[in-house]
Amino acid sequence: TKQFTRFPEGFLWGGATAANQIEGAYNIGGKGLSNNDVIERIKPENRKKLELPFPSTEEVREALRDEDNRHFPKRHGIDFYHRFKEDIALFKELGFKTFRISIAWTRIFPSGDEQVPNEQGLAYYDELLDELVKNDIEPIVTLSHYEMPLHLSVEYGGWLNRKVVDYFAHYAETVITRYRHKVKYWVTFNEINSIIMSPFISGGILRDKVKDGNVLQATYQAAHHQLVASAKAVEACHRLAPQAQIGCMVLGMINYPNTPHPEDVRSALMDQHKTFFFTDVQVRGHYPFYMNRFFSEHNIRVEMLPEDAHLLKENLVDFVSLSYYMSTVAARTESAGEKAAGNILTNLKNPYLEASDWGWQIDPVGLRTLLNMLYERYEKPLFVVENGLGAFDQVEEDGSIHDSYRIDYLKQHIEQMGEAIRDGVDLMGYTAWGPIDLVSFSTSEMSKRYGFIYVDLDDEGNGTLKRSKKDSFYWYQRVIETNGEEL
Ligand code: BG6
Repeated sequence: TKQFTRFPEGFLWGGATAANQIEGAYNIGGKGLSNNDVIERIKPENRKKLELPFPSTEEVREALRDEDNRHFPKRHGIDFYHRFKEDIALFKELGFKTFRISIAWTRIFPSGDEQVPNEQGLAYYDELLDELVKNDIEPIVTLSHYEMPLHLSVEYGGWLNRKVVDYFAHYAETVITRYRHKVKYWVTFNEINSIIMSPFISGGILRDKVKDGNVLQATYQAAHHQLVASAKAVEACHRLAPQAQIGCMVLGMINYPNTPHPEDVRSALMDQHKTFFFTDVQVRGHYPFYMNRFFSEHNIRVEMLPEDAHLLKENLVDFVSLSYYMSTVAARTESAGEKAAGNILTNLKNPYLEASDWGWQIDPVGLRTLLNMLYERYEKPLFVVENGLGAFDQVEEDGSIHDSYRIDYLKQHIEQMGEAIRDGVDLMGYTAWGPIDLVSFSTSEMSKRYGFIYVDLDDEGNGTLKRSKKDSFYWYQRVIETNGEEL
């Protein structure tokens, strides 16, 4: 008898990346500077603190004046810009059905406010997409992954400024038009809910542009602009590329109560809303009821244009994609216990879970639960477009890398995804984060590695950039080959 197959035929196995973490070539092909091009690596002792950069205008200007003396890792990435053919050949060997990239807005519109796109930038993504298609790898393209023109940030105030919505809509329409015959899956904003914790990288907001120190006011205003911009991208996609699908993307977070105390349970629900607000708007088309009280209690007044309600209502996403790395614990008081690290929400330690070397609490079952929660809520196809373990790797003398910890992590998460599918969740695919080592989003380190493919590059930017296969490479290859039967 045939074994029960957990993963549907055509399940999209693959890997996910972002332009600013892999491409490098920050000043090649007419590219403009992006906000990530002025970010330095965090100090190793701050690895677990997770303080995302939130510079002032003056600090950015100072970084630019002093650029010859500083190292900005995301300017260089892993040189994917020049090596994409070699890297795609490795993805092909892994058996990838799909590969998630993002387009660097600054390659298309170097300053962000131009009318005419930079043809060299457009031609680059043509080549990259053609190479994927040639290798039977379905591209998934994120329009905005932690990258915006620095000019829009410094001169306009980033996503705080309504004008940026129109600049983004123009960019989105330009690339959707250009690549509509090559791309079937689009994603609007990467981890759109991350703006709450990451005003600069996610929203281009500079510290001194925040009025009255009310950071939440600023981030929810910027978030509103991104939600409207996302709706405009959905509108453009449905109009220009009706055969394609476009999804939203959230940092998938499940928030547990610290104890069964009813107020802890309520706190966990409040934290959960910080994720669901963003999906609710993009899937259901309107602001959820629970935000009114949250806004009034935090002195938040979101300015909206009369047309916004209609835009949000009419342009709903086709699928919900998410990243998933860890779960968090919420409590009714701040001082309830020792804090754990987190990529977005700093949270309490969960005594039942182990943590990565960066303090991220590893929770495969949480993924199954979260997928169920999202599917119950929306009944829309889901897509896990990021998941993985950031870890230090040791290269042996013979060049091999035995990353059993990474295999364990991925295996457990894939198992739980299989369980969610058996629960009845409609899951389109799974793209492991950073299939090739890349620069970390939160710390800008190279030593926080996610890849099946090792890249010889260190935190200071030294190395040959040579690619080599880790043990996990052969393991993941087999997972894909057997459609998740052999883990
Ligand atoms: C997600 C981002 O938050 O997590 C990625 O979408 C990021 O860009 C990934 O790289 C892992 O985070 P980090 O900080 O370990 O690179």
